[in-house]
Amino acid sequence: MAELTQLETKLAEVMGLAQAATDSTEKVKQLVEDDEVKQTLERMRDEAAETADRCEQLASRLEGKKTALTDKARETKSEAQEMMRTYLSDDVDGLDGLEFLLMAEAGELGHVEIVGAMNEQAGDPEVRELVEWAKPIQERHFWATREASLKLAKAEDALAAH
Ligand SMILES: [Fe+2]
Repeated sequence: MAELTQLETKLAEVMGLAQAATDSTEKVKQLVEDDEVKQTLERMRDEAAETADRCEQLASRLEGKKTALTDKARETKSEAQEMMRTYLSDDVDGLDGLEFLLMAEAGELGHVEIVGAMNEQAGDPEVRELVEWAKPIQERHFWATREASLKLAKAEDALAAH
């Protein structure tokens, strides 16, 4: 199988994390009761799906490497899903879900930025376009998740028994 460059590997990781995020945002949405937070998570899910699509389109233009890249993405996706299963076992609530998403979204943002930094050498215009599109969206996902988790935290009865 074709060997991936470092940049292509990181791109595959962005793709896999976005694929996993379509599931994790949906899962957390089901744990949350607040309508505004549910809507935020829905939008994040749609944008994660679009990110995965855009990565896939980019991958299909990489002659001969599409399979290697999608395989790597699948590997990253299943690692992220395993982490979610570990973190969100039975008996979790919406705030637990958002705490998991805080890590996941920070990871997504970091990976998009890493792709951008690596592409400064490679100078691929399509990768640059993807990063310029995805970075502000991921920044918003992280901050929106943070806001949502603090909103739910304030609504908790802090002194109640756990
Ligand atoms: Fe995200």
